[in-house]
Order: sequence, then structure tokens, then C-alpha cells
Amino acid sequence: MTFATVITRTALGLAAPEVLVEVHASQGLPSMTIVGLPDTAVRESRDRVRSAIINSGFTFPNRRLTVNLAPADLPKDGARLDLPIALGILAASGQLDPETLNGYEFVGELALNGELRAVQGVLSVARAAFNARHRLCVPSVNAEEAARIPQSVIFGAENLKQLCLHLQGITPLLPMPEPPVTVIENVHLPDLVDVRGQHRARRALEIAAAGGHSILFIGPPGTGKTLLASRLAGILPPLTEEESLEVASIYSISNLTLPFGQRSFRAPHHTASAAALVGGGSQPRAGEITLAHHGVLFLDELPEFDRKVLEVLRQPLESHEVVISRAARQVTFPARFQLVAAMNPCPCGYAGDSSGRCKCSPDVINRYRGRLSGPLLDRIDLHIEVPALPVSDLQLSDKAPVAESSATVLKRVLAAREQQITRQNHANAALTPQGLNTVAHLGDAEQKLMQTAQQRLGLSARAYHRVLRVARTIADLSSAEHILVPHLTESLGYRSTFNI
Ligand SMILES: Nc1ncnc2c1ncn2[C@@H]1O[C@H](COP(=O)(O)OP(=O)(O)O)[C@@H](O)[C@H]1O
Ligand SMILES: [Mg+2]
Ligand SMILES: [Zn+2]
Repeated sequence: MTFATVITRTALGLAAPEVLVEVHASQGLPSMTIVGLPDTAVRESRDRVRSAIINSGFTFPNRRLTVNLAPADLPKDGARLDLPIALGILAASGQLDPETLNGYEFVGELALNGELRAVQGVLSVARAAFNARHRLCVPSVNAEEAARIPQSVIFGAENLKQLCLHLQGITPLLPMPEPPVTVIENVHLPDLVDVRGQHRARRALEIAAAGGHSILFIGPPGTGKTLLASRLAGILPPLTEEESLEVASIYSISNLTLPFGQRSFRAPHHTASAAALVGGGSQPRAGEITLAHHGVLFLDELPEFDRKVLEVLRQPLESHEVVISRAARQVTFPARFQLVAAMNPCPCGYAGDSSGRCKCSPDVINRYRGRLSGPLLDRIDLHIEVPALPVSDLQLSDKAPVAESSATVLKRVLAAREQQITRQNHANAALTPQGLNTVAHLGDAEQKLMQTAQQRLGLSARAYHRVLRVARTIADLSSAEHILVPHLTESLGYRSTFNI
């Protein structure tokens, strides 16, 4: 046999498209040519593969070797192809029966001594291999991660020699068992019990959690906005296994870790660039909005963000994904995040404060708020003021009532969310105008209230739907089948002082 084909995969965003490694060993001056990889990657891979083969007790064939990586136009990160290239060379030179490679896929970087080194994004590879009904061989350090894909068949090997002994049936490896799904307790997340007073803001946060709504806190410094925002993740329903896998795949390609099943909480600094926020780069990387997929994206000091940076958020807020175009190629990353933002009402932070210490002119205040575009604010469901607390509320005393814990709030959130799932199979925040027609039916009194509100407040169509979505969640929190006047009144109260 002088020809062999090995199946592997490359990374393209969260996808893992198939790459065929074709090796042809022919007569001629001994050489090794790799087609389909950038020059530097080829050089490095060639050296690693040659050493690894020799140091694993095989012979490096004295032939003219041509390695073709197809399709040629797919970008390939070189190192993970070491293992399939090495196996292809062994098969094409008669040291390994090519039949033994059937039904398998392989990824792995080789060290010079033949050890297998970890690769990034193995979860996406495992999912794709499973869909293709292939068994997958990976470096043993990646095996547990890959085995997260239910029913996948994963073999982890320490080195090239061990894998060859497995393929030849001499010393078979055992398939990696699926790791147990550890139940993630929210106990280590910050708890609402630490937040004193601020009942309206706590209530708004609970509504946001129950319906998956985005929320904006507005208030002077030191009133607990950051404190509240950091407590949202702890009162959200647990992720489903499928959602956990999606999040794990994102962290896997990004070389970051997050406990399996935990919702992410991302808080990029206001100096973050647009690329850092939405993703980008020549090898497209996931941005903060993708790292916050199924979790929370917290933008503190919202007006301090560059306006251009904020504008790039509008599209993903609507479509729940982000498309990154690089040269001739497009990569789509998921970005279904819950936005939590916080801001001061003016540059000094005290506009509207009863102390009267704000000396900002109306002009200055307008310019400050003007940094946020209407269309962005219009996409945030709940706007809530977080005023300065009376000192008495902040003082710890035996008489002060203990604030509710996150566990108590979570129970109500779960009950409300379950009604949404039963009714429409997703959270209220994702209701389309058509969806609202069926699940947010208004009676006579309710319709009249909305008409009046629309005339008085001049609600845009988007704002109108926002009010209905939030009202639907408020109704769910009180287990009401229909939206009633009090639900609408409360919902209308979560509009901003910006009058949008
Ligand atoms: N409502 C509150 N309950 C308990 N502590 C608070 C509250 N508001 C503020 N604090 C205290 O003040 C600090 C600053 O709060 P923070 O949430 O960062 O304010 P903000 O983000 O509104 O400027 C917190 O670390 C906390 O110790
Ligand atoms: Mg803050
Ligand atoms: Zn001011």
C-alpha cells in the first residue's frame, strides 16, 4: 500500500469541518511535501511528525512523501493535524494496516518524543465526529472533555505508539466513559442576601431573571448597582445539558475554563474594543458576547463605552448571533446573552439626588446621556432607578429585616419560567410580536390602559412590545393566566427617565 487517507477536523468558529489527510508514498528522492497548510506550519509539523515516528519505534519511510490536506481552501491550524499526518505516513508505508483507520477520526499535536499534546476546541470536533458516526481518537488529556457528547465513542491515547497498538488490536484502549453531570449549585455565586434595601431594583432583577429580560440600572455611585448586577447569574434557571454543551464548546475553542453547567458572567471593561466585545481577528475568536452565551453580559458604566463599540451590540441583541467576516470566509458565533447595564444619571453621578449636590448643567447631562443611542436603550427591556439608600437601611442592626436570599428568589423565578416553557417553549424575552399576539392577549380595560399610555408617553412599536413582554413575565410571577391592569402598570413603570 502506498496510499492512505485519514479523517480529521479543523476549527472554524464553533464548527469543525472535516479535513482529509491523503498521503502518497512514491519512489524517488526521500522528501516530504505537505500541501494545503501555510509554510511555517508545514515546516514545524514536518519536523514534529518525523521525530515522533522515529521515537515511537517506527521507521520514517525512505520515500518521496506527498501529504495533501483537503479541501485546500479551509484554514487549518497546523498542530492538531500532526497525529493524522503521522498515521497516514505509517499506513502509506505499510507499517499500519490502512483498514484499521476505517470509521475513525483523529486530532492531536505530537511532541518530538511521540507524546500527544492537548488541542483546543475538542468538544466541537467530538460533536461533529459523532454526527458523522465516527469514533474519535484524541490526546488523553482531551478525552474526558470530548466524552461530554452523549453516546460519542472517544479513545484517549498518551502517545503515538499507544494509539497504534490500539488500532492494530494488540492493546485495545477502553472508550472514555461520559463524565457524570455534576449538579452546579449556585452556592458559590454572590447572594442577594447581601443587598440591603433597594426593593424596587431587587424586584426588577427578579423579573429580568424570570423572563430573561435585559435590564439597565441608573443611579448615583455606591447605591448597589454593581452589587445587584453580579447577583443575576445566581437567580437564573439552571442550563439544560444541550445549553451547557454549547457553552462548553465556546470555552473550549477559546481556551478558557468555566465549570460545566455554570452560567457565565462576563463584565468587560468600558475600554474594551469592538473586536473584544463581538469577536474578530484573522483566526476569528469569540468575543465577550459569545463568551456570555446563555449567561450574563454586564456593561458597567455604560456611557463610558465607546459609542461605536455599543452600536455593534445592536445586531446581536436582535439576532442572538454574530457574523464575523474575514477575507472570503464568514464565521458565525452564537450570542444569546442577557444584557445587564449600569450607569450614573450624569457625569458627576448625582443628578436628581435629593442632596442637590449635582451641579451638571442640563446641556452636560444631555450630552452624557446622548452617548447612548435611542435604538440601544430601546432594546433594553427594564430600566430601573437605584437611588441612594437612607443610612438607616445600610446600618446592620438586629431590628433590620434580613433580606431574601437568592435561593428563595430562584424558586419564584423557576416557577415563572416553567410557565413560559410550557406555554411557548422559550422565555418571554424572546417573544416576537406575533408570539405576543397569542400569549399576551389583553382584555378591554387592559387595552384601554395601553391606548392611554401610548398617547401620553408616545411609545414606539418596539417599546410597546417591550412593555407587553415584561407584563407577561410579571403575570407569570403571580401565576396569572392573563395580563391584567396591575401587571401593565408595573411594566410601564420600568421605562426610563430618558423617555424612550
Ligand atoms: N444596597 C446595598 N446593600 C448593601 N451594600 C451596599 C448597597 N449599596 C452599596 N453597598 C456597598 O457599597 C459598595 C459599592 O456598591 P456598588 O454596587 O459597587 O455601587 P454602584 O455600582 O451603584 O456604584 C458595595 O461593595 C457595598 O459594600
Ligand atoms: Mg458600580
Ligand atoms: Zn451631575
